[in-house]
Amino acid sequence: PEKKHYGGWRRRRHDDGHEGVGGDDDYRERFVRAYDRLRDELLADDSCELTDEARRWLAQMIDYNVPGGKLNRGLSVIDSYLLLRQGSEVTEDEFFLACVIGWCVEWFQACALLLDDIMDDSHTRRDHICWYRRPEVGLRGINDGILLKCHIARLIKKYFREKSYYIDISELWNEVALQTSLGQMLDLISTHNGADELAKYNIEGYRRIVKYKTSYYSFYLPVACALLLSGAKLENFSELRDILIEMGIYFQAQDDYLDCFADPNTIGKIGTDIEDHKCSWLIVQALGHADLNQIEVLLKNYGKKDSTSVSKVKSTYSTLDLKDMFSEFEDRAYKHLVTSIEAQHDRAVQEILKSFLKKIHRRKK
Ligand code: FPP
Ligand code: MG
Repeated sequence: PEKKHYGGWRRRRHDDGHEGVGGDDDYRERFVRAYDRLRDELLADDSCELTDEARRWLAQMIDYNVPGGKLNRGLSVIDSYLLLRQGSEVTEDEFFLACVIGWCVEWFQACALLLDDIMDDSHTRRDHICWYRRPEVGLRGINDGILLKCHIARLIKKYFREKSYYIDISELWNEVALQTSLGQMLDLISTHNGADELAKYNIEGYRRIVKYKTSYYSFYLPVACALLLSGAKLENFSELRDILIEMGIYFQAQDDYLDCFADPNTIGKIGTDIEDHKCSWLIVQALGHADLNQIEVLLKNYGKKDSTSVSKVKSTYSTLDLKDMFSEFEDRAYKHLVTSIEAQHDRAVQEILKSFLKKIHRRKK
């Protein structure tokens, strides 16, 4: 059969030598288009005798939760895959398979956020009220989260069952699901209120929580999938994994900063970390730098729902110059990552990491 090639995956160059804008936008568009197909296929699946009503619920639930994010995680599968395949042509089918995995990562993220919002008692997500807060949903949303998780295995089975790396990719997804749930458990355990709990917060504990709840699925998973798709074995890429984990920790520290200091209209969600007694980057730093009076204010007010308590915590953060502290942390983290990236010998590995770092450095949302 005639092979069609994606013109978009190679950045086009104009005659004057500068890179055209076509490339990235083009494959973003192709990625976005794959969503409708995957959703429709899941809805058309008649192995479970879905009624019309069930199909309507599923369609609404998927559309509400899956496609509305920044798509960074999904697109990074495509990005990484194309970088790994540089020098060889990528067929239309191969490009589509990378899109399937990219969307699986977005499905995973949708599942995690849907459930996390219930656990965190959140209000809004991606500029809309949280799914579980819709009157017709409530705690039924838990089952919707489970469905989203089941869709991933279904899609991977449908498209990859015959591939030599099917077992590897299935095991990778199982492993990352376990790591993410354990990370979420560590996060939730830390939210038990009380002075004893707060006194236990430190940077090692913080790093452990976010390594598991965020880094593996947001940073390692997309790249690991791209590696498997391009025929590589994961055991040869442990340094790459460690750098991605480190980047994920930096990313979650940003999330914690934005939770408190960003405009909810910009980040599309209302922060709840202080109310939820979260082991956030900010409280860990605050506890490390506060004097006895400030510690007392934090102990008394952290993890309380009322706005007066929240304001007291926030004003202690201000007195401690946490904004400046974060900005210095961000510079240090960035420089450290750049150094580790530059020490990588593999060109494609370097470029994958650089492209990730560029997407998140000094992000505002
Ligand atoms: C958001 O963190 C939540 C996560 C990073 C992970 C949540 C994980 C689960 C609910 C387990 C899911 C398991 C599977 C298998 C998918 P956050 O509350 O710090 O971020 P936020 O500010 O965006 O809410
Ligand atoms: Mg949350």
